[in-house]
Amino acid sequence: MAKVIEALLAAMTLEEKIGQLTMAEGSGHGTTRDVQSAIREGRLGSLLNVHGSEIVRELQRLAIEETRLEIPLLFGLDVLHGHRTIFPIPLAEAAAFDPPLWEATARAAAAEASRDGIMLTFAPMLDLARDPRWGRIAESPGEDPLLGSRFASAKVRGFQGRSLSDPTSLAATAKHIGAYGAVTAGREYASGDLSERTLLELHLPAFKAAADAGVAAIMAAFTDIAGVPAHANVTLLRKTLRCAWGFEGVVISDYGAVAELVPHGVAADLAEAAALALTAGIDIDMMGDAYRRGLPAALARGLVGLEAVDAAVMRVLRLKERLGLFDEPYRGLSRDAPADDGLGRDLAREAARRSIVLLTNDGVLPLPPGLRRIAVVGPLADAARAMLGPWAAIGEGTDATTIADGLRLALPDCVVDVSAGVSIAGSDTHGIADACRIAETADIVVLCLGEDETMSGEAGSRAHPELPGAQRILAEAILDLGKPVVALIASGRPLIVPWLVERASAVLATWFLGQEAGHAIADVLIGAANPSGRLPVSWPRDVGQIPIFYAERPTGRPEIAANRFTSKYLDVPATPQFPFGHGLSYSRFVLSGLRSTTTEIRRGQHIEIAVDVTNEGPVAGEETVLFFIHDPVASVARPLLELKDFAKIRLRPGERGTVTFTLTSEAFIFAGRSLAPVLEVGEIELFVGKSADRGSLLRTSIRVIVAQDRLADQPVSVRSDPV
Ligand code: BGC
Repeated sequence: MAKVIEALLAAMTLEEKIGQLTMAEGSGHGTTRDVQSAIREGRLGSLLNVHGSEIVRELQRLAIEETRLEIPLLFGLDVLHGHRTIFPIPLAEAAAFDPPLWEATARAAAAEASRDGIMLTFAPMLDLARDPRWGRIAESPGEDPLLGSRFASAKVRGFQGRSLSDPTSLAATAKHIGAYGAVTAGREYASGDLSERTLLELHLPAFKAAADAGVAAIMAAFTDIAGVPAHANVTLLRKTLRCAWGFEGVVISDYGAVAELVPHGVAADLAEAAALALTAGIDIDMMGDAYRRGLPAALARGLVGLEAVDAAVMRVLRLKERLGLFDEPYRGLSRDAPADDGLGRDLAREAARRSIVLLTNDGVLPLPPGLRRIAVVGPLADAARAMLGPWAAIGEGTDATTIADGLRLALPDCVVDVSAGVSIAGSDTHGIADACRIAETADIVVLCLGEDETMSGEAGSRAHPELPGAQRILAEAILDLGKPVVALIASGRPLIVPWLVERASAVLATWFLGQEAGHAIADVLIGAANPSGRLPVSWPRDVGQIPIFYAERPTGRPEIAANRFTSKYLDVPATPQFPFGHGLSYSRFVLSGLRSTTTEIRRGQHIEIAVDVTNEGPVAGEETVLFFIHDPVASVARPLLELKDFAKIRLRPGERGTVTFTLTSEAFIFAGRSLAPVLEVGEIELFVGKSADRGSLLRTSIRVIVAQDRLADQPVSVRSDPV
C-alpha cells in the first residue's frame, strides 16, 4: 500500500496535493455546491461537521467515483464526550480518576460516531487548566499533568481501539498542543507567556502520553507562547513532537488558525501564513483556506519547498490508509444500527454517577427513606439541554433526564415540587416567592444552581466564575428558611461559592453529567450510588486566588499565621476552598500503615509502596488513594507535592484492603537546571492520602543513591525558532 500512496503522490497536481491538506466544513445535513465541486475537482481532502450515513455516503461517492485520483475523503467531528449518547464533560469524567471508564466511554462514542460516517474525532482535549475563568477548562482533564497523561492514553485507546482499520474505531486528535490553557488571565484566545520548564513539565506530558499511545493526529492551539503562535512554532511541532517524540501522525490546524497567523502579527499575508504553518509542521489546514489560497504563492516566492507539501500529503494519505479508506471508503456506514439494548445509557449513567463529587455533607445525605415531600428548586432543576454541557456533538436535549425527573422516578412515594425561582443568568427575582413557597412545605430542598451549557467551553471565559444572574439571591432566600438544603452545582468549572459551602447542608459538584444526569444525581442523593468522584482541579474560594493549584513550589517564606512577612493574602486564606483530590463518600475510609519495600533506590530499580485502607463506614464504597512525592532538596526547587500515581479500591463496611504502588527510579527524574533530565542523590518524601491537602497525608521517605546527575536523554528544548 505504501507504493500505492507514493504512486498517487507522483500523479498529483499541486492543486490536488493542496486539496489533501485542506479541510472544509459542511453542515450536518447537506453541503453546498461549492463543497461538492471542490470534492469533484480534488480540492478537498477532508470535511468536518458532516455526519449521517446518507450525506457521508454521497460525498464519499463523489470523491471515489467522480475525481481523477479517487482518493477517499476523511470526515471529522468533535466527538468529545459522546456522539449521540452524551457522557459527562471531560472535566467531570476526570473526577472519576478511572482510566477503564475513560476508555469505555471513548470506545462507545467511537462505535456510535463511526456508524454515522465519522472517522476522525477532534478529541481528546488535553490542555492542562489551572484557571477556572477559562471556559475550556470544561473540556480538559484538569490541573495535573499525571492525571492528564492517564486520561490521554485511556482516551486514545478507547477512540482508536485495537486498530484504526476497525470500522468501529475513530482516529483520535490530541488537542490543542502549545499551552492553550495558559492564556493570560483566563481570557479565551489571549496570548500566553510561560517558561520552557512549565511547558515541558506541565503542558506537554499529556500530549507525550497521547503520542506514546499512538494517537493518529494532534491539533495545534489557537494561541501563542510569548509571541510565537503554536501554528508557527517549529521547535514545538517539529523538534519536540516529530523529532524528540517520534510522532508520525497528522498535525491538524485549529479552525481557521493558519490564516489567523496574519492577525497574530507574524505573517503579512496568506502566503506567509501558509509557509510558516507548513514549515512548522501543520499538515491539514482546517477551514482557513490559507493553504489553498496561500501555498501556491508561497512556493513561487520560495518561502517553502515542494518537499514540505509532499511530506504533509504523505502523512494525510497514510492516515487514510491506516483507516482502511482505500479498501473500504464507506467504512462504518454499512453496519446496521444496533438494537437499542440500553448499554449506552447504562454506561452514561455509570460514568455520570462516578463523576459526581460530594464536596460537603453534614449528614443530610444520603436522603433518608420515607421522605414525604421535597422541593427541587433553581434554574437547573428542570433543565435538560444544559445537562449535556458544551461540545455535545449531536446530543439532543430531549434525550437528557433533568434532575427533577430523576428524583421523581427515584422517589415514587414522595411528592416532588419543582420551581425554577430565577433563570440561569437573568435578573428577574419575581419567581423567588414561588420557590420559597414550595420549599417551606418540603422536608428537604434540593437547590439546583449553576451555569448553562454555553457559559463554558470555547469562548466561554468568565471574569467572575461564580453563580450567574440572581441565583445567589434565590439561594440565600431558600437558605434563610432554615430547611435542610442540598446544593447541586452544575458547571463547566469550579464556581466560587464560599457562602453556599458555609450554609448548605451538603454541596455537590455535578458539572455537566450528560444525558443521564438526572438519574445519576438521584442515584447519589438517595444512596443507590455511593459518591466516589474527586476534584481534578483545586476549587478556589476567591477569584483573587486564581490561578490556584496544588503543586506549588516552596517559597523562602512559607505562611506563618503570626508573621506578616510570609506568603499569604491579607484578605483571604491562601488555601483553596477544596483541594485537588477532595471528594467525600458515604463510607468512612481510614488510611494506615504506609510502608515501602526499601529505603534506598538506585537508577533502574523499583520500589513498592503499600498502604492499608479500611472502610469504617456503614456502606460499601470506593476510595481513591493518591500517591505524591516531594524532593525537598534539589538543584531546582521541586513542587511541594507531585502526583505520581493513583489507585482505587472497593471495600465493604468493616473491610480492610491494601493499595500498592510500584515506582521505578524514573519517577524521581526531573528537568534539571538546563532542562536536561536528572536523577539526583538524596531523600525523596513519599506521601499517600485522599487529597492534596498536605496536612492530611501519610508520609515516609526513601533515599536515591548512586544517581547519575545527567542522563543520556537529550533535553527537550522548546525555545521557538524563527522560520
Ligand atoms: C476548536 C477545536 C475544534 C474545532 C472544530 C475550534 O473552534 O478550538 O477544539 O476541534 O473548532 O470544531
